[in-house]
Amino acid sequence: MKRLLRLQSLLLREMEHYELLVPERDKFMDWERVHMSSCARIGYLLAESRGVDPDLASFACAVHDYGRIVTGRQKGHAEAGYEPCREFLERSRLFTGEEIKQIVLAVKNHSKKSEVGSALEEIVKDADVIDFYQYGFSFSREEQEERLKRLLPIRL
Ligand SMILES: [Fe+2]
Repeated sequence: MKRLLRLQSLLLREMEHYELLVPERDKFMDWERVHMSSCARIGYLLAESRGVDPDLASFACAVHDYGRIVTGRQKGHAEAGYEPCREFLERSRLFTGEEIKQIVLAVKNHSKKSEVGSALEEIVKDADVIDFYQYGFSFSREEQEERLKRLLPIRL
C-alpha cells in the first residue's frame, strides 16, 4: 500500500498548487481531497471482489478527477485529465509504463457512465458513483443514477 500513500501525498501537493493557480472552481478543492482518498478505498475493495489488481484500481481511482484538479472545470474533465495525468504519473516515478497506460485510460473514460469498459474502468466509474452517493450528493445525469441502482446493494 505504500505506493498509494506516496501517490496520494503527491496528489495533495498538486491540489495545493492548482488551488492557488485556478481559484475559480466548479467543485471546491476539499471535495477533491476527500473524493480522491475515498474513491481509492472503495476501488480497492471492489477490485478485490472482482479479481482485479486492487493496487492498480486504487491508483486509478485516486487520480480519476485529475483533469478537474488541473482545470477547475467539471465539463470535459475526464478527457482533459488524460494527458496531464499521464505526465503527473510519469513524474511520480512510481509506476511502470503499462500501469500508466491503464490508469490514464480509466481516467479518460470515467465519465462514460452508461458504457461498459475494461474491468478497471468499471471500477473507477463505480467507485465514483458510490462515493457521490455516500456523501449525499444528487446526480446530475441519469446514467449515474442508473449505475448506482445496479450497484446497490453493494457486494464487497
Ligand atoms: Fe470525474
